[in-house]
Amino acid sequence: MKHGAVLVTGASSGIGLAITRDLTSRGVPVIATIRGAEARARLLASVPAALPIELDITHAEHVAALPAAVQAHSPQGLAAVVNNAGLAVVGPLECVPSAELRRQFEVNVIGQMAITQALLPQIRASRGRFVFIGSIAGRIASPFAGPYCASKFALRALADSLRVEVAEQGVRVILIEPGAFGSRIWAGTGAGVQRLAADFSADSAPARLYGPLLRACLGMLADIEARAPTPEPVADAVWRALTATHPRTRYLVGRDAWFTALTLARLPDACRDWVYRLRLRALLRSTGRGR
Ligand SMILES: NC(=O)c1ccc[n+]([C@@H]2O[C@H](COP(=O)([O-])OP(=O)(O)OC[C@H]3O[C@@H](n4cnc5c(N)ncnc54)[C@H](OP(=O)(O)O)[C@@H]3O)[C@@H](O)[C@H]2O)c1
Repeated sequence: MKHGAVLVTGASSGIGLAITRDLTSRGVPVIATIRGAEARARLLASVPAALPIELDITHAEHVAALPAAVQAHSPQGLAAVVNNAGLAVVGPLECVPSAELRRQFEVNVIGQMAITQALLPQIRASRGRFVFIGSIAGRIASPFAGPYCASKFALRALADSLRVEVAEQGVRVILIEPGAFGSRIWAGTGAGVQRLAADFSADSAPARLYGPLLRACLGMLADIEARAPTPEPVADAVWRALTATHPRTRYLVGRDAWFTALTLARLPDACRDWVYRLRLRALLRSTGRGR
């Protein structure tokens, strides 16, 4: 790996924390971005060697101050950036407020690119790497996860464009595409679904059309969260992306991601739609509301 530190955004929990822990355990200096004193304390309790920086990736002043902060934390340079910070907005597209859709893109897409633009001169100087944490949701869009999937499709497109734009400058761009892993994203997503459902007035068309499905989705999210493996395999894929002499352009991580990529994502649209419709019916039946 190149000399210098690695910056990991969204290091307070889940995948970002696992990457930070993994890299520091290998002796790599990690500039770990967090938001708030509680997150800082939590990070340092878990990874004392991490170098925390306060950063909201959607906050223009934070982003503008980042290159100088990175330089101060790591005078020997910046070897790589792991663009990990993200959140998931889900729900029926008919009902997702524009502000929520905007928030999804502000964090998962525009914020990630703002960090990339701000740190590109430092990465160019080290001939370093950008690693983006995409998702299998960037390869296949599932019902009721439209905003999240759209953001990960967009991130994948940006990573594909950037990879070629900066290749001649000696900069590598790699996309990691995990399946489901245990993190706080599931609870946050569930809370968003609950807020959306609470906004439906009783007996309104959205309540009738989507209410039962949203309640069933809540159960499904809890189930995925309970069963999802811990995110160390994602950290391992990031390590390979950072250290391989010839890194792959993308790394799928997790059995579910591989399964989806090799099956569902390859089906013709009509077949894939049918599979999703069967799944939704089964989900409804499990709550006693389906046919
Ligand atoms: N878990 C999965 O199954 C899975 C699968 C595929 C891809 N991913 C992707 O993996 C990445 C990490 O997610 P996770 O699952 O580890 O979820 P997580 O535990 O909720 O972590 C998300 C991280 O992003 C940070 N963040 C959110 N908004 C931010 C902002 N505006 N500025 C700076 N930081 C912000 C959070 O900070 P706060 O604590 O301050 O909110 C947190 O540190 C995301 O890009 C997600 O889409 C996750």
